[in-house]
Amino acid sequence: MYDASTNPDGQFPVNMAENNLSWPDLKERIEQAISFKEIPKWVSNYTGMGGSSEFLEAVSSFMSTHLTGCTIKQERILTSAGATAVLELASWILCDDGDAVGIPAPSYPVYSQDFGNKSGLVRHDIVTYEDLINNDGFSNLTIKHLKKARTAVKKSGKKLRLLVLTTPDNPTGCLYTQGQLEKISDWCIKKKVHLLVNELYGLSMIHTNHPDIKDDYKEEMAFTSFAQIMKRKKSGYLHMSYGLSKDLGISGFRMGVIHSFNESFLKAYANLNAPHLVSNLTQWALTDVLSDQDFMSHYIIKNQARLTTNYALVIKYLKKLRIPYLPARGSLFVWLDLSVYMKRNSKKAEHELWQNVYDTTGLLLTPGEGFGHKKRGQFRFVYSFLQRDVLEEGLKRLSNFVNNLS
Ligand SMILES: Cc1ncc(COP(=O)(O)O)c(C=O)c1O
Repeated sequence: MYDASTNPDGQFPVNMAENNLSWPDLKERIEQAISFKEIPKWVSNYTGMGGSSEFLEAVSSFMSTHLTGCTIKQERILTSAGATAVLELASWILCDDGDAVGIPAPSYPVYSQDFGNKSGLVRHDIVTYEDLINNDGFSNLTIKHLKKARTAVKKSGKKLRLLVLTTPDNPTGCLYTQGQLEKISDWCIKKKVHLLVNELYGLSMIHTNHPDIKDDYKEEMAFTSFAQIMKRKKSGYLHMSYGLSKDLGISGFRMGVIHSFNESFLKAYANLNAPHLVSNLTQWALTDVLSDQDFMSHYIIKNQARLTTNYALVIKYLKKLRIPYLPARGSLFVWLDLSVYMKRNSKKAEHELWQNVYDTTGLLLTPGEGFGHKKRGQFRFVYSFLQRDVLEEGLKRLSNFVNNLS
């Protein structure tokens, strides 16, 4: 890792999908939660197979107040050790080995393992655009894309059983609008395709009215949770996942949530969740922190301000360097296009460019391969892993690199 005084030749890992910006605030509150209280007896025992009732109450109330804007009943959520466990177990229950899962591309590469390793699902990437278009931070997935995907999957002899949407998205930071989600839900219900909306980055929103980025957006749009549609439709085909790895920057705590109105699914999930439980000690500490409404409200506001500052800094440099990018509305990422610096549109050329950026600047980007998009030369840049001054040093090196190539 780069450090101005101790390691000026160090690297900049902008590939880690983690938020380190607000940990000092949270650390202090967690220390307060566990330092001065006697550990209750239940912590040492087995608890419910989706979490202890105290924890589920705290999580459902936290989600209702801060994320979903509608009441999530505690009996409609279950918790597991991270969103990864949630995605794996949910897909194992909802689908059969060999089914296809539709995922709009570009998207999180590790979905391939989450849905493939144990559930045996085949990833079907739904590419909705070829080049970076000025899409104003919204996904442009339509029913036409879904119909095409279903037909292609059918032709390959498989069944499209699951559609997974991430909002805000990894890596584009795009949002799905309520109107769009409503139409997609109706289509999924009609076609008996399970729809899982992953809101893991739901509170990691950027202030799009920041002076350095506001020209990228035609309108401001607050995050609106899929939970509101689920509550209205109460369909067994609609599900939502959440977790604290990103919005609270505590991926090491391992805490994920599934929310559904499908009673049989929830029963099966609880039945199979024993290997994935969140440790009771973690449940106990987080119950205290999540129930502190005042603290959490302030935390979310400060965290979003920090995310916005770092995001705007990256965009300032990309604009100066004329590097195309998709304007994000949330998440921890910028999806950018360096393809003009490749001689060919090939995996090899993308890999060479990625290696060249790393060797020359120390910036470790994530190459586009694996995100399911056809066009090579696109990369993911995480702006929340490094503190502002370190991030700026990395961006200065990227500027030198690009200016030397131009
Ligand atoms: C879209 C998405 N889902 C799931 C995960 C995994 O989350 P967790 O650490 O809670 O398992 C990530 C992590 O990067 C992610 O980006």
